Amino acid sequence: MRSNLTTAIFPVAGLGTRFLPATKAVPKEMLPVVDKPLLQWAVEEAAEAGCTRFVFVTSRDKAAIGKHFSPAPQYEDTLKARGKTNELALLKAGLPDGAEIIEVYQDEPLGLGHAIWCAKEAVGAAPFAVILPDDMVLHTTGCLAQMVDAHARLGGNLVAVENVPADQTHRYGVVDPASEAEGLVAIQGLVEKPEPAQAPSTLAVIGRYIFDAEIMQTLSRTIAAGESGAGGEIQITDAMSQLITQLPLHGLRFQGTRFDCGNQDGFLQANVAYALAQARKNGDTSLQSKLRHLLD
Ligand code: UTP
Repeated sequence: MRSNLTTAIFPVAGLGTRFLPATKAVPKEMLPVVDKPLLQWAVEEAAEAGCTRFVFVTSRDKAAIGKHFSPAPQYEDTLKARGKTNELALLKAGLPDGAEIIEVYQDEPLGLGHAIWCAKEAVGAAPFAVILPDDMVLHTTGCLAQMVDAHARLGGNLVAVENVPADQTHRYGVVDPASEAEGLVAIQGLVEKPEPAQAPSTLAVIGRYIFDAEIMQTLSRTIAAGESGAGGEIQITDAMSQLITQLPLHGLRFQGTRFDCGNQDGFLQANVAYALAQARKNGDTSLQSKLRHLLD
């Protein structure tokens, strides 16, 4: 089965309260890890996986996001005049040639399921990816590219999963695994943010998904019925659970190290780890040893 995946959705309409006051004027997704905003890293991961349509579910207070991915004639003219070709290329903000950018608005942050549903018209009938930019995965092959390979074989719905400490299950959607082979977990149920005692496992869903377009119908029914899930939000976990009887749901144990950049610890660690990866790539041994020192 071919995956046929060209569209990636980036839900970026949240309030980013854990990063106040940094996020009062600057969207959380625009905070830089080393030299690029979180959201650009996510866009580059989607482009590497073959996506050409980039759908931002954003809020009207976050104009900086649209601006970052738009042409910038004021810089282009100056950089061209100065012959700064490298800097000119950077203005593309990681977008591949011919990329289609779509912005849709979520007027209120009613939850991740609701944010994804806001992109319904932009998605159509084909499978699509969702990347949460505040979850970063460092690996030579991007997490989404790994998932695209698996999805091409499996179809249905696919999420990225990893084990989390037992006392952290209340922060994640947690999987009830039926079976597992070669890093792929067949999932028979999901619980959103369970307390450790109620968690079906310690295998948590992280911010990478590939969905069949049918998930939008499930979300539409939930929203029309006025139902909400954990924390009073419209949760994508609930929609995935409801679809399990119709479509297979798998979890991929991805290769790489995940950083939860939605909190300060993870964000700081990501900065050091990505800087180290970049220094290795550039053969900058002096910076590598300084950064390793920091990690000790
Ligand atoms: P988070 O829950 O990590 O982001 O959502 P947040 O709510 O902005 O952060 P805090 O908890 O207040 O600090 C993960 C991703 O989903 C988006 C967020 O923008 C983030 O990229 N999101 C979340 C939405 O787009 N809409 C929502 O209703 C909720």
